[in-house]
Amino acid sequence: MAASTRRIKSVEDSIRDTEEPEHQLRRNLSALDLTVFGVGVIIGTGIFVLTGVVAKTDAGPAVAISFVIAGVVCGLAALCYAEFASTVPVAGSAYTFSYATLGEFIAWIIGWDLILELALGAATVSVGWSGYLNQLLGDLGIPLPTSIAGETATVNIPAIVIALVMTGVLILGIKLSSRVTSVIVAIKIVIVLLVIVVGIFYVKAANYTPFVPPAKGGAGETGLTAPLIQSLFGFTPSTFGVGGILAGAAIVFFAFIGFDIVATAAEETKDPKRDLPRGIIGSLVICTLLYVAVSLVVVGMQKYTQLSTTAPLADAFRSVGLPFFSGVISVGALAGLTSVVMILMLGQSRVLFAMSRDHLLPPGLAAVHPRWGTPYKITIITGIIVAVLAGFIPLGTLAELVNIGTLFAFVLVSIGVIILRRTRPDLPRPFRVPLVPVLPILSALASLYLMLNLPAETWIRFAVWMVIGVVLYAAYGRRRSRLAAGGALDPATAAQRESARARPAD
Ligand code: ALA
Repeated sequence: MAASTRRIKSVEDSIRDTEEPEHQLRRNLSALDLTVFGVGVIIGTGIFVLTGVVAKTDAGPAVAISFVIAGVVCGLAALCYAEFASTVPVAGSAYTFSYATLGEFIAWIIGWDLILELALGAATVSVGWSGYLNQLLGDLGIPLPTSIAGETATVNIPAIVIALVMTGVLILGIKLSSRVTSVIVAIKIVIVLLVIVVGIFYVKAANYTPFVPPAKGGAGETGLTAPLIQSLFGFTPSTFGVGGILAGAAIVFFAFIGFDIVATAAEETKDPKRDLPRGIIGSLVICTLLYVAVSLVVVGMQKYTQLSTTAPLADAFRSVGLPFFSGVISVGALAGLTSVVMILMLGQSRVLFAMSRDHLLPPGLAAVHPRWGTPYKITIITGIIVAVLAGFIPLGTLAELVNIGTLFAFVLVSIGVIILRRTRPDLPRPFRVPLVPVLPILSALASLYLMLNLPAETWIRFAVWMVIGVVLYAAYGRRRSRLAAGGALDPATAAQRESARARPAD
């Protein structure tokens, strides 16, 4: 195992792999497409649902500050992702970046960890989609039985259907996906702007007082459901106050997940070095501004204690006597969640694609469809896994696993930036993180701090998932890896390695 942890796949090898004809994806995305993709996956359950949950149970009107904190943590990580994506423009995101810096074992761990973010995230949002659909059908007088729709369903049929339909769209090709996304993203942004522009006229100053509700000692969660930081340092569990704002930030972090997925489309981008940083940072900035505005408006329209925890945006409009807008918002939320499911699955299939191309997973899975130019086998597998998770598992608090998995990837990517600057200072970096190593270190610490604000039980589930990953690597990837001794390296790389070995150490 020790030797495999030191196996590093050079940046040149990674880029060369993308040029193999049987593994070539089609390059047709621009910076604008990427920004649309980013916004398409970022705005979703986070703003449409968690705003209400966090305002009501953790932060009060100061949920807007939770959004700012989570946005800053993501902004720091986004700079690191942008440098990596512009230096190593290869499918696979954090997985590929770690392979080039931290070695194969950590790369596998990250790839395994990303399943929590992407497949579990897509399943979580599919279940949310099913809930919104049923709410809308209920408004129209034709609700589905709760046994086949919504969070408590035995078999969640709409969640399965949305996951499988989106799988079909992805198999037919990224350009089609991008077009579908553009329409959905437009609807979503119009809905969010509508909430801000109409809602602002219904804001009552009294609802902002107290802006930071006083901490309620002892009233909060305890034991395994309390944030780990409380258990570790013996803080009295509390809701609201400053602790509540921070715990809220760790939850609304979900609302920002997705900007990193832009980096997974690197190989399908026309000019990745220029367009990737623009796409990543652009989509994050747009979303942060919208989130802060929406959350300020919503907590201004309705007292935080009265907010709905299932459909807070729609409910705030109902509460001020605007039921028509409430219905429109529900339709927009449905459209919005559709694109989130699709892009999370797109990201998942690209990470698995990169892993099987490196033979850490069976290589046959990385085949690209001759006509559609998409990794169809991997996409079908991803779709089935997401559909099964969404259809049969009540996800509930498991969504917190999505956050911990994503934050862990941010920590490693931030550290990876510093390492790659040292090991490969020669590489062209069209986008450079300012103030290295200070900024990446801050980024890693900020992500770690948010992780500590997640419940102890989430940490336990995360640890179990990671142990399973280590066992799988020991049983399969370690021996089958393309970089394993005697593995199928192309002749040019083998010769390069040989001459490097023959050179006396300096
Ligand atoms: N950021 C995405 C959402 O809020 C995952 O649904």
